[in-house]
Amino acid sequence: MSGRKGPFHIRVSAMRQVELQIEDVAFGGKGIGRDEGKAVFVPFTIEGERVTAKIVREKKQFAEGELVELLDPSPRRVAPGCPYFGRCGGCAYQHISYEHQLELKAKQVEQAMRRIGRLAEPPMHPMVLSPLAYGYRNRITVHAEDGIVGFYRRDVHKLIDIERCPIAAPEVNEALAQLRAARARDGHYTLRAHSGPRVFAQTNDAVAEALVDRIKAILPAEGKLLVDAFCGAGFFAKRFAPQFERVVGIDWDRFAIDAAQKDAATNEAYVAGDVTTELRWLLQQSDLATTALILDPPATGLSAEMRGAILDSPPATMIYVSCNPPTLARDVAELQSRFSVVSITPLDMFPQTAEIEAVAHLQIKAL
Ligand SMILES: C[S@@+](CC[C@H](N)C(=O)[O-])C[C@H]1O[C@@H](n2cnc3c(N)ncnc32)[C@H](O)[C@@H]1O
Repeated sequence: MSGRKGPFHIRVSAMRQVELQIEDVAFGGKGIGRDEGKAVFVPFTIEGERVTAKIVREKKQFAEGELVELLDPSPRRVAPGCPYFGRCGGCAYQHISYEHQLELKAKQVEQAMRRIGRLAEPPMHPMVLSPLAYGYRNRITVHAEDGIVGFYRRDVHKLIDIERCPIAAPEVNEALAQLRAARARDGHYTLRAHSGPRVFAQTNDAVAEALVDRIKAILPAEGKLLVDAFCGAGFFAKRFAPQFERVVGIDWDRFAIDAAQKDAATNEAYVAGDVTTELRWLLQQSDLATTALILDPPATGLSAEMRGAILDSPPATMIYVSCNPPTLARDVAELQSRFSVVSITPLDMFPQTAEIEAVAHLQIKAL
């Protein structure tokens, strides 16, 4: 679009208002309705609702709208637990009952597995819920700028002054109150409920324990080698080290690897390096029939080289922990040439937000 056409186009479409029947809620949290066949994505709506929406962005294949009026609200609609909800960029689902958030997320994972993962019947396990629907986050990162301390708005790059974050644990909110009282200098601040090294850590303690339980149920009771790729400070490696002869963790964060090494047992080893190269080498050296691999990559999932290394030397058991169902599904689609997908378990690590955690169990196919 040219510079002149762009703003004009936006101004015209910003004036358009449509009435929509919301049909579904997509991964990411937006309700989907149709205007003359074209999909319109509207945040803060629920399937079954009739709404009026203002079109704010119009593309060839789809449009984006903002909710103007709820003509026919869903019975699953509830009052949000946070005064900043709707403006703050953090949460997408506080207007939906917790029970229904779980149903939506489970369905979104299953749909991703069907559409992107090429699984006709995804072997879904029940969604693991969070015992705390609010007050569960053991860390938050806030930003300070010109005397304002808070989170960025969802629509524009502007800070909202946040006094309290209801999805954060009480200890985190206490740290926020202290930071605000101290008149923090401009910058980013990660506030934590637990002390410890400044490295990646699971966000929701109770659901992280449920994740460990799920992995424990999948892993063989004993084995020769467990590779924990993207191990951070060894959250999984340390839990499962007692049931393997040897555990090797790989992460490129040196601070995380140092922290993992500090209290390592004699059968634990941690490698500071890129999974792309280290994993290929490690799998090539291993007795694959007695090797289990845990993968917990960032949201981008596995690179083509990592998938290639796994397919060239496939371990007997693989557990893929993901915080992004579409990239999990993309990787699973390719890994199916050598692996069967035994189960997929969604976990609600991040209630009230659109984020979903999922764990897939893959087993090597008999040749
Ligand atoms: C989702 S975190 C998982 C951490 C760990 N499994 C845990 O539960 O605490 C992803 C980790 O992958 C690491 N990482 C990302 N890309 C990597 C790469 N290409 N090679 C090695 N480590 C990588 C990051 O440093 C981060 O610690």
